[in-house]
Amino acid sequence: MMVSAMSDSISIRRLLRSDAEQYRAFRLAALAATPSAFTSSAEEEGQKPLSWFADKIGDADQSTHFILGAFQNGAELVGVIGCDVEARRQACHKATLFGMAVATHAHGRGIGRALVQRLLSEARQIPGVLQVILTVSEGNIAGERLYRSCGFREFGREPRATLIAGQAITKISMVHMFDDFPWTPVS
Ligand SMILES: CC(C)(COP(=O)(O)OP(=O)(O)OC[C@H]1O[C@@H](n2cnc3c(N)ncnc32)[C@H](O)[C@@H]1OP(=O)(O)O)[C@@H](O)C(=O)NCCC(=O)NCCS
Repeated sequence: MMVSAMSDSISIRRLLRSDAEQYRAFRLAALAATPSAFTSSAEEEGQKPLSWFADKIGDADQSTHFILGAFQNGAELVGVIGCDVEARRQACHKATLFGMAVATHAHGRGIGRALVQRLLSEARQIPGVLQVILTVSEGNIAGERLYRSCGFREFGREPRATLIAGQAITKISMVHMFDDFPWTPVS
């Protein structure tokens, strides 16, 4: 799979089923570190078998579902981002960005931006895909700023999208369009 160097020690490539163990450890740590950023919880996913994580990664030859990993020194997984294209014919112009996280100790080094840019560049090459959508929790300033600076625009907010220990969290829906579809974003 493609490898693009982002700095002298970070490289980005698609995860493979053989990365499942490292992906599981990374994902559970990310869910535990910032529960409000995600719809899934560490408690729930911690119960899943390794095969569940391998299936989430999917097969290497799938063009419409993949997870990218950022590796430090080619070994340590320090960031992930997922892309999933709608299968239904009337919605297969849409890809969803999901499961974005960078390891806490690696924040602020441009890894998140590199992952989003790489995902957009790969999604743009998938025949028929016109836009990428995502949700980000209200109050996740780092995530929201990152997405806005990568060309995502808000199109709505879902109140009480998640409930964590009784606390309601609103999710902001955002879209990045590859064409110049005539549309006015919310802000
Ligand atoms: C959001 C997240 C992925 C950003 O990753 P990162 O590698 O630290 O981000 P980068 O270093 O690439 O920064 C990219 C941009 O994000 C924004 N950003 C990052 N950290 C920020 C912070 N602490 N405060 C405000 N903006 C911030 C900035 O716009 C930054 O661009 P700039 O450096 O030109 O100002 C990371 O903070 C994270 O994993 N958070 C927890 C999980 C999460 O929120 N996932 C997203 C779910 S939708």
